[in-house]
Amino acid sequence: MDGFFVGKVRRGVTRNGAAYMPPFDGILQQEAVWAIKSYLETRREKPL
Ligand code: HEM
Repeated sequence: MDGFFVGKVRRGVTRNGAAYMPPFDGILQQEAVWAIKSYLETRREKPL
């Protein structure tokens, strides 16, 4: 799950040649990416 998350954030998400999400490699520092993930986890309604 962590590998999936960090891969999507670094490389972005493209489908059929269209960028659905821009790559954040070199834009967000590692600490910022994990801070966003930790924040999202505090908002989760049900545990995984
Ligand atoms: C301008 C900011 C952003 C935009 C426009 C954006 C947009 C999107 C979109 C449209 C998708 C779905 C792609 C699809 O349908 O396949 C997506 C997926 C995802 N985004 Fe973003 N995103 C942004 C920022 C971020 C940030 C800051 C993070 C985390 C730090 C993040 C993490 C993810 C992850 C992990 C997925 C994959 C989710 C999955 O496939 O289950 N995104 N993003």
